[in-house]
Amino acid sequence: MTTEGPCPAVTPRTRARARHILDHYYIGPARDAAVLEIWGYTPRMSYAPGDEVILHVSTTADRWSYEVGRDGARYEPVLTVENLPGQHHETPADCSVMGCGWPESARFIVPRDWRPGGYLITFAAERDGDRVEEHHLIMVRRACDLPRAPYILVCATGTWLAYNCWGGSNHYEGITGPEGNAFSPVLSTHRPWTRGFCKLPAGAPRALPDRPQRPDEMVRYPYMEWAYAYGYSKKYASAGWASYERLFARWADGIGYDLDFATLHDLDADPSLLAGHRCAIFVGHDEYWSAPMRDAVDAFVAAGGKVARFAGNFLWQTRLEDEGRRQICHKYLAGNDPLSGTDQAHLVTGAWELEPVNRPGALTFGVNALQGIYAGLGRCAGGGSGGFTVYRPGHWALAGTGLGYGDQLGAASRIFGYEVDGLDYHVEDGLPFPTGTDGGSLDITILAMGLATNIETDNRIWGETQYIGASDAAFKAESLYGEVTPDTLDASARGNGMIVHWSKGSGEIFTAASCEWVAGLARGDMQVATVKRNVLDRFGAR
Ligand SMILES: [Fe+2]
Repeated sequence: MTTEGPCPAVTPRTRARARHILDHYYIGPARDAAVLEIWGYTPRMSYAPGDEVILHVSTTADRWSYEVGRDGARYEPVLTVENLPGQHHETPADCSVMGCGWPESARFIVPRDWRPGGYLITFAAERDGDRVEEHHLIMVRRACDLPRAPYILVCATGTWLAYNCWGGSNHYEGITGPEGNAFSPVLSTHRPWTRGFCKLPAGAPRALPDRPQRPDEMVRYPYMEWAYAYGYSKKYASAGWASYERLFARWADGIGYDLDFATLHDLDADPSLLAGHRCAIFVGHDEYWSAPMRDAVDAFVAAGGKVARFAGNFLWQTRLEDEGRRQICHKYLAGNDPLSGTDQAHLVTGAWELEPVNRPGALTFGVNALQGIYAGLGRCAGGGSGGFTVYRPGHWALAGTGLGYGDQLGAASRIFGYEVDGLDYHVEDGLPFPTGTDGGSLDITILAMGLATNIETDNRIWGETQYIGASDAAFKAESLYGEVTPDTLDASARGNGMIVHWSKGSGEIFTAASCEWVAGLARGDMQVATVKRNVLDRFGAR
């Protein structure tokens, strides 16, 4: 046994030893001309054929080049430009908040024959035999004058931005505030994506470890260990194209689904974005949405639209300002939001389920984030199976999977975690039903579920360092019960993740509420792929 009492597992000393991996560090410019580097960004996240893409690039090399390629089932290079003159630009200390402000470096027009998709932009520079490469990504939408595809994938750019640590600050950690150590409630889109958001080496660990944590071994965080070792963002496995949307896009492309691509930022700017499509798709870690984004989905469903959500963690309301260039989210400190106490308090950037927002996510997607939270991260349900337990195998979505009552969906491919959404429920005759106490409609059918928590078990392993602890449970307890006591913490600790189906008027919603669903597609789990195809084929049918 490796346990050793009575000292608590997380001592200041073990915390200090682990701080480089678990605490805040970030990717950003060296601010030193002697260091060979290249970084770039575009003012917008998505473009249609005919649009002009402007590149803002800073490099310490004399010359640089870039390549654009469609990142689908195969990577297809579509544009290479070489031998551009390099310029090294000042990067403001508050670039995460205010933007980099670098001047234009190059521009190109998206040709008409570029198919919709995610397009990787590779910036490269060389000096004295050394070569550096960094990446950016844009979405290419379908030309406005072409008929809409049956499906539209709306990328979780609110969450990408919230986790983007480039330049120092994101919505989690940062270098803002009087002490220079606070997260930023305001983030700019005018900066590069952090390393690992656009492109990752094959085999980079996912946030959910490949096997359940063992109770008598020190807990591990393979993705943070890998990120630190190889110089990637600590948040690479939490958000971004490379870890999430890309896995779905490659799978769908390989099968031949006809997809349009857009971003949540597009949806905020254009409430009619979904019109003309039969099915809107959301995948991955999708935590940050604005009210106009939700309004657009609700209106789409009310008009008979179908929503296929294979994503988790629908937690925070945001606001986009300055034509989408700035994202606001005060989160746990929502009382600091200038809209607090005003007649616009429902737009305060806090949790959807809490006052003053009070618009449970279940009203849109059939599940709530505060009823879910962590599974498989650290000791938060770290010993769980990695799959959903099946309760209603006769549902059309599970046809052809061979799964029966009590079987596990996706355990082998580890799809359950690391954040999941659920509902308050009760069990009758071995079947779960929504209680309706948390905003979830009684018409919602629960197909499968697993358990989650927001308090890490402390196994008192000598040398162990925990990451999540109990701070999320304390936030929920304070918010729901007004005080943090052992009883309110206990009442705030239990959650679940669900697969639900909900016929809502003439529209329909299917939610498999787990960030890691896409891992099942990438790992070739045929049962996970069958469920996905059942949903997409039904929702995309005329
Ligand atoms: Fe999250």
